[in-house]
Amino acid sequence: MAIKRPEGTFDLFGDDMAQWELFQACAKDTFGSASYELIQTPTFEKTELFVRGIGETTDVVNKEMYSALSGGNIEKLKAGEHIPSKAQMTLRPEGTAGVVRAAIENGWIEQGSQPVRIWYAGPMYRAERPQKGRQRQFHQIGIECLGSNDAALDAQAIILMISLYEKFGIDVSKCTLHLNTLGCEKCRPAYREKVREHIHDHAECMCETCMERADKNPLRAFDCKEESCKAAMDDAPSIEDYLCEDCKAHFEKVKAYLDAAGCNYTIDNRLVRGLDYYTKTVFECTFDDGLGAQNAIGGGGRYDKLAAEIGGPDVPGLGFAVGFERCLLAKNASNMAEAEATREGVFIIPLDENARAFAEKIFIVNSGSVDAKIDIDLRSAEAEQSNVRSLKSQLKLANKSNSKLALILGETEMQEQVFTVRNLETHEDSQIAFADAEDKLGIKVPPLA
Ligand code: HAM
Repeated sequence: MAIKRPEGTFDLFGDDMAQWELFQACAKDTFGSASYELIQTPTFEKTELFVRGIGETTDVVNKEMYSALSGGNIEKLKAGEHIPSKAQMTLRPEGTAGVVRAAIENGWIEQGSQPVRIWYAGPMYRAERPQKGRQRQFHQIGIECLGSNDAALDAQAIILMISLYEKFGIDVSKCTLHLNTLGCEKCRPAYREKVREHIHDHAECMCETCMERADKNPLRAFDCKEESCKAAMDDAPSIEDYLCEDCKAHFEKVKAYLDAAGCNYTIDNRLVRGLDYYTKTVFECTFDDGLGAQNAIGGGGRYDKLAAEIGGPDVPGLGFAVGFERCLLAKNASNMAEAEATREGVFIIPLDENARAFAEKIFIVNSGSVDAKIDIDLRSAEAEQSNVRSLKSQLKLANKSNSKLALILGETEMQEQVFTVRNLETHEDSQIAFADAEDKLGIKVPPLA
């Protein structure tokens, strides 16, 4: 039986790959304009980074990490020896912890300097139950900003996220931006205690997991998908009533900046996000038309204690990540008028064996050239058949490959040393001499043998 790809993964190719490239190009434009620079961190990190960074009681750390012991430790395990958790490696479930680790390790965060602004794009791994919009390997694009507690940066991050959606072709009128604050280490403990009491008061309606987490991390109950838990949490205390002056003022500023920029949002005091590192601002964008249960196309927030939590300096940070696959679903559901895929390059169409040999030479001579995207009919031929197919069949292939021009080479053309050039957009024919091809078409034509 042929081996299949792992469940919850996809092969990114063809149109989907073109969309991934487009998404990254839109991100480069959007984030570059705000001084964010691209980074690539390892796709795996020490397990401890995620446990300490994301939080032990989160679903991501508890249930969804792909972890493995590194090399020699497997022998130790077999021998019943103790293995330090540091020896474990985990495929990154998200990008934030790795980026913050990199900024600390490389000493990029400097007192009195502008914040470190970084963006990233790549695969992430979570062992979740696969369904539409939920994969085990998916792609995120995100930004992280380290070293400033300025509320303007929170608002700017949200605006950059929405602007990325727009550039990519998502109809943002079908999106809702959910906004909340989670307070800080000064005001959150009192709020957490109130939520813990609320959960215990509603114990009969809460699921086992919520009850287990109630004392350690009661806010996770806001994320529970069980209907009875959701109903019980509906009238739980609201964070806004517990914020300290600093957090209140910060949240007011973020809202004022968003208002000034004309950015719509909905205050959602139930939004806690699934990762434990958040402080103050949190946000999430849902696409509300046809994505089903997995409709969060991006989210993020501030994490002023994360750097210190993983052993670095006590510097504030914030960021967000958007999920490529869900954004693509949202784009397809947006029905925005899309520009037709741009045609480019030339497709050489020989009409006999002699022209075919010459066409192949042109194909080889121009390979690897950045100016000339060039293709010919490369379909394998039956042994006994000629590998020169009809004009019609080759034109069909040229159209399918999205070439802009077909260079037709028949007996007459070979004698006169010209191409008959068919514009595949306008269907107009013209002739270009071999000698002019480099100037007019950007392709080199070798001398005729
Ligand atoms: P997150 O909300 O866990 O946040 O993920 C961000 C986005 O990744 C989600 O909104 C969703 O679009 C996509 N995503 C997550 N899990 C899956 C999955 N299993 N399949 C497909 N798409 C998925 C974070 O990861 C934070 N690191 C964001 C952040 C950056 N916060 C601050 N800085």
